[in-house]
Amino acid sequence: MENDCKITLNTGLRGITIANTRICEVDGKNGRLLYRGYMIQDLARASYEEVVHLLLHEYLPLAEELQPFRARLAAERAIPPAVIAALRTFPAMALPMDVLQAAVPMLATHDPDIAELSKEISKEAALRMAYRLVAKFPTVIAAYHRIRSGTDPVAPAPDLGHAANFLFMLNGRMPEDTAVRAIDTALVLHAEHAFNASTFAAREVASTQAHMYAAVAAGVGSLSGALHGGANAKVMQMLLKLGGPEKVVDFVNAELDAGRKLFGLGHAVYDVDDPRAHILAPMSKALGESTGNPRWYEMSALIEKTAKEIFRERKNADIPVNVDFYSASLYYYLGIPVDLFTPVFAIARIAGWAAHVIEEQFAGAAPKPVLYRPESEYIGDYCGPEVCEFVPLEKRGPR
Ligand SMILES: CC(C)(COP(=O)(O)OP(=O)(O)OC[C@H]1O[C@@H](n2cnc3c(N)ncnc32)[C@H](O)[C@@H]1OP(=O)(O)O)[C@@H](O)C(=O)NCCC(=O)NCCS
Repeated sequence: MENDCKITLNTGLRGITIANTRICEVDGKNGRLLYRGYMIQDLARASYEEVVHLLLHEYLPLAEELQPFRARLAAERAIPPAVIAALRTFPAMALPMDVLQAAVPMLATHDPDIAELSKEISKEAALRMAYRLVAKFPTVIAAYHRIRSGTDPVAPAPDLGHAANFLFMLNGRMPEDTAVRAIDTALVLHAEHAFNASTFAAREVASTQAHMYAAVAAGVGSLSGALHGGANAKVMQMLLKLGGPEKVVDFVNAELDAGRKLFGLGHAVYDVDDPRAHILAPMSKALGESTGNPRWYEMSALIEKTAKEIFRERKNADIPVNVDFYSASLYYYLGIPVDLFTPVFAIARIAGWAAHVIEEQFAGAAPKPVLYRPESEYIGDYCGPEVCEFVPLEKRGPR
């Protein structure tokens, strides 16, 4: 059908500022990322729990505040037996992001704070839901992974930190310190990123006065896409397919010739490299060296360099490296299955989603909550000068 629109409006809302927020600032021109005013390079030295506290409570905790906060999260880690039983019903080939998304409303049905739909949800209740979701996401993913692998879920260990406990529940053994530190930092780096697609999806749902779980389920669905959180798994699939450095130049040219995207490269907001990639790259390098298998890091670095050169030659433009590029080899070195890379992203981003849902619900950065309702321009048919004439089914002829 002829496309007769005057202006193409399907620009993915690029460059359109639609809300105020106090949670995160992404300066794409200068490659700066701040959570509540703090530089990501500094927060990378903090634990995930500190950053969750910062995102949900708007300030970095004191040591004496962090301890009860960690205990509070740890106390919420277990998931109801009914949810474990439901996880057992999924086929082994189910996509883990689908399982996670399905688990979110299941968890809602067990949340005492939303048992009564007629009750207006208080900010305190919304925060309790946020703690539960942050605490339970790793448990859902680890439990599903163990079930599909033919083993039993491992109960959360209350004495372990958030990152260590995830690896413990996933693998059924105490993780090494280097692995815990790497995952902890990766969780910090992925915890928040302003109005990205999944956060926007979550906020849009929250703007209807739907509850936290409904909004978060939308966020999980949005994150699963290859152009968003799904990109980290795609990067690893690319590395595994290539196997070695020999075919990198041909591969990059072939992908660009075919009009396909190179995963882990390009960004909707950053004109320059994503600062998170510059933190993740040396982490991947160090793990590659310590495991005696630097290949995946080295290939990543080669693909980045080659793609940037070819992109510049072809388009006379720079293509930045994004967060998903080096997280792929990093997670692979840590022994995380490739199809759990995006769920690990979700395990981190749940903190950002929850903070945004609360900001949306309680107008944390605006005079009052407002329902999102953009407009579109109809460019379809009217069949004639006015409207299409409705013909009853029995009288309708062939088209
Ligand atoms: C994230 C993404 C959707 C942003 O897309 P965008 O907003 O269209 O990006 P830009 O406007 O800067 O793109 C400029 C040009 O570069 C191209 N481009 C951008 N990223 C590219 C990539 N990864 N591979 C190949 N070409 C790319 C675009 O197609 C566009 O080409 P055109 O001018 O011929 O139309 C895109 O970069 C992408 O798909 N990247 C791969 C997936 C990924 O890693 N996602 C995770 C993001 S954190």
